[in-house]
Amino acid sequence: MSLQRIDKILSSQNIATRSEVKALIRKGLVKANNLTVLKPDEKFDPEKTDITVNGTRLEYKKYLYIMMNKPSGVLSASRDRREKTVIDLLPQNMQREGLFPAGRLDKDTEGFILITDDGEFAHKMLSPKSHVYKLYEAKCDRELTAEDVKHFSEGITMGEISFLPAEMKLTGKNTALVEICEGKFHQIKKMFQSIGAEVIHLKRLRIGEVFLDTSLSFGEYKELKNDEIEKILSQKHGI
Ligand code: URA
Repeated sequence: MSLQRIDKILSSQNIATRSEVKALIRKGLVKANNLTVLKPDEKFDPEKTDITVNGTRLEYKKYLYIMMNKPSGVLSASRDRREKTVIDLLPQNMQREGLFPAGRLDKDTEGFILITDDGEFAHKMLSPKSHVYKLYEAKCDRELTAEDVKHFSEGITMGEISFLPAEMKLTGKNTALVEICEGKFHQIKKMFQSIGAEVIHLKRLRIGEVFLDTSLSFGEYKELKNDEIEKILSQKHGI
């Protein structure tokens, strides 16, 4: 990690704005390795320096990885002028600049959305080459059959669009689990359309090997631990 200005370090961690950091420094409230920081342009390695602000130790995080249980009616976007986004659901102190949802769930889809500011990680997770499987629970407007399961397992072509073979497991008369490793626009809904069924409820339950934490209510979130972040990129699959 390279050296960074202290005002940049603290503002990147949402501790204070750059001008607020200047004021804190003027008051002698910012310390690095127990020495009072004198100027906002002093540089430190944030991963190796013990930084405190008004006596509270900074827990530096280069990137955030957040699991949110997205409710229906909220956009998977960073910002929107008219509608509420998943970022708006985070408390102010978590709304770090650069956060975005990695991948899209439709406005009416619920469940696991990953929010991060690590662009490289998001790219890896979303690239079809990475074969990161996502598990969905779908409820349809008609009864599902073994024939439908077979149809999904053979791959689907709808005019110009094609979808790779996908595993479907029936869980009730008109409910099923479906696992896909692509992330095409409205993919699950279109796959069901191809068998003449309409999805009336859709929820994402898992990304890679990480399941949505069932203790999270709609709109609630938690930060992922290092081992979970790795497991997101797992290629393991199977329902
Ligand atoms: N497939 C869909 O059709 N919608 C989603 O939100 C996610 C996958």
